[in-house]
Amino acid sequence: MTDLTINLTPEIYTYLQRVSLREPKVLEKLREQTHKMSMFQMQISPEQGQFMGLLVELIGAKKTLDIGVFTGYSSLSVALALPPDGKVIGCDINGEWTKIARKFWAEAGVENKIDLRLAPAAETLQALIDQGEANTFDFAFIDADKLNYPVYYELVLTLLRQGGLIAIDNVLWGGDVADPSVQDDNTKTLRALNEKILRDERVTISMVPIGDGVTLARKR
Ligand SMILES: C[S@@+](CC[C@H](N)C(=O)[O-])C[C@H]1O[C@@H](n2cnc3c(N)ncnc32)[C@H](O)[C@@H]1O
Repeated sequence: MTDLTINLTPEIYTYLQRVSLREPKVLEKLREQTHKMSMFQMQISPEQGQFMGLLVELIGAKKTLDIGVFTGYSSLSVALALPPDGKVIGCDINGEWTKIARKFWAEAGVENKIDLRLAPAAETLQALIDQGEANTFDFAFIDADKLNYPVYYELVLTLLRQGGLIAIDNVLWGGDVADPSVQDDNTKTLRALNEKILRDERVTISMVPIGDGVTLARKR
């Protein structure tokens, strides 16, 4: 026995995927298409998408937010796990990437579940609060521009119901957050947010070493 998290060698990672990944064909196709793009590394991993789908099922989510849509993998993973009357509000500013997303959402037959808002995410989230939707969302995934993560975290906490769950992506930032010699703005922002969430009594938390690190924060 060890108290260390296992180091995923390529062999162990391949095994993990082989014995646990149930990626639907449409998500596999979306992943393959996105991997032809230069920015493909922005996409979440398939096991992370499956994990998020499980979380959505576990909490019985219906109303969700996807902050940072890109080509639509995280939105689609969540939409496929939602009940027929479930909704994803997707936030992004890029019309080109989200055009690909829309194509795959339609192919998966869940386009009616996903409401894409093409605007800076902070504006979309603030508008939802202004429209009286505070304390009504069940689940939110934060995966857009890192410098605005602290803003998204606060807006999302306002929008979540008690017991609602936030999943925050890239909290390990390729390991840079743990390396004091790295002092760029994105790394400093993520480092400061991790420290803030550690001390935030409004949430129950766990940092999960999946993908690039995901913090789960349940609103108390
Ligand atoms: C890491 S990618 C998201 C990956 C996506 N979750 C997936 O599963 O493939 C980040 C996305 O955030 C978007 N973005 C960047 N700045 C934004 C902003 N201010 N508001 C909304 N979206 C933004 C980018 O256009 C990009 O598509």
